[in-house]
Amino acid sequence: MANLIKTYSSLLDWYFQLGIDTFIQKKPRNRLSINDLNNLKESLNNLNNIELKKNAKNLVFSDGNPKAKIMLIGEAPGYEEDLSGIPFVGHAGKKLDQMINAIGLNRKKNVYITNILPWRPLNNRTPTDDEISFFLPYVEKHIAIIHPIIILLFGNVASKAILNKKGITNFHGEWFKYNNPYLNEKINVMCIFHPSFILRSPEKKKNVWEDLKKVKIKINELRI
Ligand code: URA
Repeated sequence: MANLIKTYSSLLDWYFQLGIDTFIQKKPRNRLSINDLNNLKESLNNLNNIELKKNAKNLVFSDGNPKAKIMLIGEAPGYEEDLSGIPFVGHAGKKLDQMINAIGLNRKKNVYITNILPWRPLNNRTPTDDEISFFLPYVEKHIAIIHPIIILLFGNVASKAILNKKGITNFHGEWFKYNNPYLNEKINVMCIFHPSFILRSPEKKKNVWEDLKKVKIKINELRI
């Protein structure tokens, strides 16, 4: 591994010496020229030939205050969310409400909530890598429009999609800086166990509480 890094870094040095300082990815990143929430929602609604959409009842776009400085991102809608078109309203949603209320946050007042996938995967299966890559540009644009100061990522899927980090057990509760392709400044991000996981493993509640206390400290520090 160390040798590989050395080889790549010499290659980069060589490119720079030749005056090459711009690299174009093999697969261009899909950048959306949308600048408001209604257009973003409409562009998702207008997507065709999406398997998830065919099997779902409603698009689940967001909930909360679009002016909030704290954005919460989950994985994908479940049964209740699919029926109502609102994220986090089922059992996991009730748990999420309890979690954020514990540090003085309220879903209607000072947070904005969305998911990586806007439609429910059949039988609540885990989103595939292809589905996550497909919807990532929409989530990136969603983040850019909301322009939060803090993002909380709930669970492995959101952590992998946004930070490209796997295995939340090893890094929940740590602060990271997230670079959004549409924004200049980096955003403070923390990964927290998903409320569904807490419902299945209540012994992890204390971890979540420790993480939420750090979020509260950050909110106070940043005077949000
Ligand atoms: N789980 C999620 O990740 N999102 C929801 O909206 C509901 C359950």
